Amino acid sequence: MSKDTFYITTPIYYPSDKLHIGHAYCTVATDTIARYKRMRGYDVMYLTGTDEHGQKIEEKAKAKGLSPKEFVDEIVAGEGGILDLWKLMNVSNDRFIRTTDDYHVASIQKIFKKMYDKGDIYKSSYKGKYCTPCESFWTDSQLDGGKCPDCGRQVHEAEEEAYFFRLSKYGERVQALLESGTFLEPASRVNEMINNFIKPGLEDLCVSRTSFSWGIPVDFDPDHVVYVWVDALSNYITALGYMNDEHDDFSKYWPCDVHFVGKEIVRFHSIIWPAMLMSLELPLPKKVFGHGWLLIDGGKMSKSRGNVVDPVVLSQRYGVDSLRYFLMREFPLGSDGNFTNELLINRINSDLANDLGNLVSRTVAMVIKYFGGTLPKERREEDIDRELIEMAGSLRDIYETNMESFATQNAMVEVFKVVSRANKYIDETMPWILAKDEENTPRLASVMYNLLETIRICVSLLQPFMPESCEKVFAQIGADEKDRLWENAGTFGVLNPELTVQKGETLFPRIDLSKELEALENLNPAPETEENRAEPITIDDFAKVEMTVCKVLECENVKKSDKLLKFQLDDGSGKTRQILSGIAKFYKPEELVGKTVVACTNLPPRKMMGQESCGMIISAEKEDGLHLLILDDSVPAGAKLC
Ligand code: MSP
Repeated sequence: MSKDTFYITTPIYYPSDKLHIGHAYCTVATDTIARYKRMRGYDVMYLTGTDEHGQKIEEKAKAKGLSPKEFVDEIVAGEGGILDLWKLMNVSNDRFIRTTDDYHVASIQKIFKKMYDKGDIYKSSYKGKYCTPCESFWTDSQLDGGKCPDCGRQVHEAEEEAYFFRLSKYGERVQALLESGTFLEPASRVNEMINNFIKPGLEDLCVSRTSFSWGIPVDFDPDHVVYVWVDALSNYITALGYMNDEHDDFSKYWPCDVHFVGKEIVRFHSIIWPAMLMSLELPLPKKVFGHGWLLIDGGKMSKSRGNVVDPVVLSQRYGVDSLRYFLMREFPLGSDGNFTNELLINRINSDLANDLGNLVSRTVAMVIKYFGGTLPKERREEDIDRELIEMAGSLRDIYETNMESFATQNAMVEVFKVVSRANKYIDETMPWILAKDEENTPRLASVMYNLLETIRICVSLLQPFMPESCEKVFAQIGADEKDRLWENAGTFGVLNPELTVQKGETLFPRIDLSKELEALENLNPAPETEENRAEPITIDDFAKVEMTVCKVLECENVKKSDKLLKFQLDDGSGKTRQILSGIAKFYKPEELVGKTVVACTNLPPRKMMGQESCGMIISAEKEDGLHLLILDDSVPAGAKLC
């Protein structure tokens, strides 16, 4: 019998900057749900990707002297790029789509044409308020105090010939969908959509641009590129093979079970996307879930405020699983949450180091100490066991109810109630006293088994949250394949009665709060100022510059110039190199002869005052003028700076 399918998506990310913890939050949430569904036996399709077109990308690439494709390639697939980040965070996506993928581009052109042929897209001209960073046109009624309602920035008047999508035609059907009760969650977002967008009246949507070119051309009118949101939203179907032969599982997985999206893009997913699908005559997604934001000091993370939190740094310091657990445990998914380093460290210390970590290490250590690692067969149950056994045995059902409604926080609260109960059980049963009398061996074995079985159940249910750590716990408690299965997570008594435990590493080391807070504080990037706003370059960019150590053979003033000195240099090549440098005001030629300097030697030659200059001598600039970089004479001519 074929398995039930489950199709889950994240938004596809803009590769305009490095991703931060807010992006990781959304991806970890979907990954956790995807893993949970796989554990339950579903045939899961988990899709993520990157949204690579648009004016913002075009402008950023230009500023770096790159083509847009080169620019996005580096951020998506370069070292430390988005693909690396998801690998590091143990994200188990089944597919990754880039909107620059050829098959997607071709599919978008067909999708656009299909809606055009149907009469749902028409040509007209657009006059309105445009927000460049958000690439969105807004009507006056949608503006917030005259500013962009999404990002709060200044908008400007813009007019262009454009194609329009008949969004207004689908207003009533979209409203009915929103009011159906299950399509958009949490429910609070439904009112927001209806009051802010549907009630004021849906206007037709401008779906092409001519003001920039980095987008998918409308193939029957190539001056126009397809509006980035039409391009981006369609990824959810092109990635399955809709209108292309790259994939062939559209009929298997569509309609999507849930689109996970941040609250600011719920509008696109719950109004524009269903209307597009109605136009394409395709089934609608079953659910859109609008999660909240991770905030810093109550506000958005941003590079300019210098408060961007880097998931790589936190994963490296505390472990990927700890970070994943924290994100899913600390904040309810539907609401905003204020991120602090203190919350993170306290949560790791209390739940993972103290409660779970301790429970596992104490239990394993006791089985080794009292039984040499292998449990004996004889048992003696007592009444006091019942509460723990019942709690652990009924945990899976409570967990399931919470996970099915994406209440990951509550699911974790329930698991950790059982973990705490197990720790209390150790204090109640006092194994160290039982161990003193051989007569109590069967009783001691029962206590140990109950603890191990409780750990097994809790850890089975923690697998979607902390996949790697759970594997380590299973190994320590001597669990085999069947012990990890969902089918067995609701039953107490599955572990082999005579199992053997293994001592393992400390799973979640305790973190020194004050030391770490200080260390993290020092790692914080400085807020961007006019001075430090220089665009960062890559190591490859740096490697392109050839810096060579040179000895000054001759130096003289350039006639008719009070700025330039002419140098003859030994650059180690055997040939003399001539460079002109604008430092005559600061040095006398004769004092420089014999000195060891540094020159950039792979600049193209250029003429200055009619004379050729082959490179640039490096100096440092301050208010008081230029200072040549003069090296120790022991550095040989021709040595390269690296
Ligand atoms: N490219 C669009 C999505 C197109 S989907 C067809 C986009 N990209 S994004 O990179 O700006 O954002 C991707 C997701 O990250 C969004 O869901 C957004 O809400 C989420 N987050 C960005 N910052 C966030 C936080 N600080 N907290 C939680 N989620 C955040 O929008």
